[in-house]
Amino acid sequence: MRILVTGCDGFIGSRICRSCCSGGHTVLGVDPCATQGICYPSDVCQSLSYEELCSWRPDKIVLCGAVKGLAKCTESVEALRRNVFDLEHYLQFAMNNRHTQVVFLSSDMVFGGWKVGAPFPEDHSTRACNAYGAMKIAGEQLVLTIKNSTVVRTALVVGRLRKDELKRQQAEIDGRILSNQSLFYYWLARKIAKDNMIHLPRNVFSTPTLVDDLVEDVMKILCKGLRGVFHSCGPRRMSRAEMAKEVLGPYAGRVFEYDARSKLRPCDVALNFEMTRSALGGENCCPSKMMRNVVWEVIGNGI
Ligand SMILES: NC(=O)c1ccc[n+]([C@@H]2O[C@H](COP(=O)([O-])OP(=O)(O)OC[C@H]3O[C@@H](n4cnc5c(N)ncnc54)[C@H](OP(=O)(O)O)[C@@H]3O)[C@@H](O)[C@H]2O)c1
Repeated sequence: MRILVTGCDGFIGSRICRSCCSGGHTVLGVDPCATQGICYPSDVCQSLSYEELCSWRPDKIVLCGAVKGLAKCTESVEALRRNVFDLEHYLQFAMNNRHTQVVFLSSDMVFGGWKVGAPFPEDHSTRACNAYGAMKIAGEQLVLTIKNSTVVRTALVVGRLRKDELKRQQAEIDGRILSNQSLFYYWLARKIAKDNMIHLPRNVFSTPTLVDDLVEDVMKILCKGLRGVFHSCGPRRMSRAEMAKEVLGPYAGRVFEYDARSKLRPCDVALNFEMTRSALGGENCCPSKMMRNVVWEVIGNGI
């Protein structure tokens, strides 16, 4: 298949590109930060005109490109352009080429405006409490107007970082506040190594997801051409404090819990994944086991 992946330089997009390449597919990555070599051996470009898209003629378009930070999305009109307006020519292409499947990566934040109802099933109505969630809802609704389209919602996606990613993300991992939740375990490990303690909310819940499981689900969806709305996430609803305690084991006492009250980050956006698992088969695992090793490598002897 000819597979186009936006956000190919990102945490999830780069792994989808690699998986597509190793499956023998022809891949083109699009990302404003794209540099050859990251998603090897796929081709990459920083942007793509409608004419270039038509001449490349993808069978599948995987839309992973997005601006994720909750504060960034609230503050910048640029985020609206990247997250919503940039979808336009991919959707136009898919409308004119009915065999092309569009897969849109969405988020648990589409449920952030509901105070109750978690874990939210695939067919639950959406309501956002922040601009990021609102843009994701807009993206979903636009994508779902296309006949051959798929929405894959996921949540707090984590995994082992490559060396180049670790280098790029070091400032955020060392920072006081974490905006990219995919770095949660690295940030936690640095905090414990530096300060010997951490404060984390006991009332902010999601369903943390291992990136390898998400990539496997996306590949199944692409290969089988499945349409509709899917929840690809881990099997457990966990608070941030629980996530930390579980990987810290005997040092769990260094986690101090508090009740968060943030207007931007909703308290419970756990996803129900029953319909997705019965359609895709297999079981996703809880990331704690794999991330425990990562956390302890980062902490090293610093504790
Ligand atoms: N990671 C998670 O926990 C999580 C959870 C739920 C949903 N998702 C969704 O999954 C997708 C991938 O997330 P990720 O964690 O891989 O994010 P990421 O690491 O931040 O990567 C996103 C990449 O997309 C690029 N990008 C932004 N706008 C673009 C556009 N209009 N066209 C092409 N590329 C664009 C970004 O470039 P810049 O760096 O220049 O902005 C960045 O390189 C996103 O749609 C996100 O909303 C992620």
